[in-house]
Amino acid sequence: MDDLILARVLHVIGVVLWIGGVAMVTLVLLPGLKRMASPAEAMNFFIDFRRRFAAQARYTTLLVGLSGLYMTYVLDAWHRFMQWQYWWMHTMVLIWLLFTVMLFVFEPRSRRRKQPSQTNITAQTFTRIQRKHMILLILSLITIAGAVAGSHGWLIPGGRI
Ligand code: HEM
Repeated sequence: MDDLILARVLHVIGVVLWIGGVAMVTLVLLPGLKRMASPAEAMNFFIDFRRRFAAQARYTTLLVGLSGLYMTYVLDAWHRFMQWQYWWMHTMVLIWLLFTVMLFVFEPRSRRRKQPSQTNITAQTFTRIQRKHMILLILSLITIAGAVAGSHGWLIPGGRI
């Protein structure tokens, strides 16, 4: 029982560090960069910031994934993936997969590639980046709300087993 609680504690700490970082980038950093006088300079700053964030987000996604899998195993909750009332289990895994591919495949690949010319970077570039981050953030927040409510017993009627 104690190990389940410990897994839950680590899971939530991982989620706070990781999704909290995504919220900060989306709601504070990107709007600030959009207003900078030199978009090329802003992009250089963003690339460096993203590299540093990705380095720590790799550990937190790993922590969230391992603790999540462990809880699924201990609770023997595999059947939930067959029940739509547990939609938040599906979206947890979906978000985890999306970020894992971005952090472990795309981010290292973009670092190895030569940086493209920065002359065509404008404020609109940051608006586009912010839109993508906003979609991920909203999806993550809906998932967090569903996971907290669902794992404490608030399920869509008819879904309790
Ligand atoms: C491989 C990926 C993941 C797996 C297998 C997984 C699995 C789980 C399991 C089994 C629980 C406990 C449910 C219960 O007690 O009934 C849980 C709780 C939770 N998960 Fe995940 N999870 C994953 C990723 C995520 C992600 C990406 C997020 C955030 C976006 C997240 C947020 C949460 C939250 C907020 C809780 C509720 C904690 C609580 O209030 O007790 N999980 N997860």
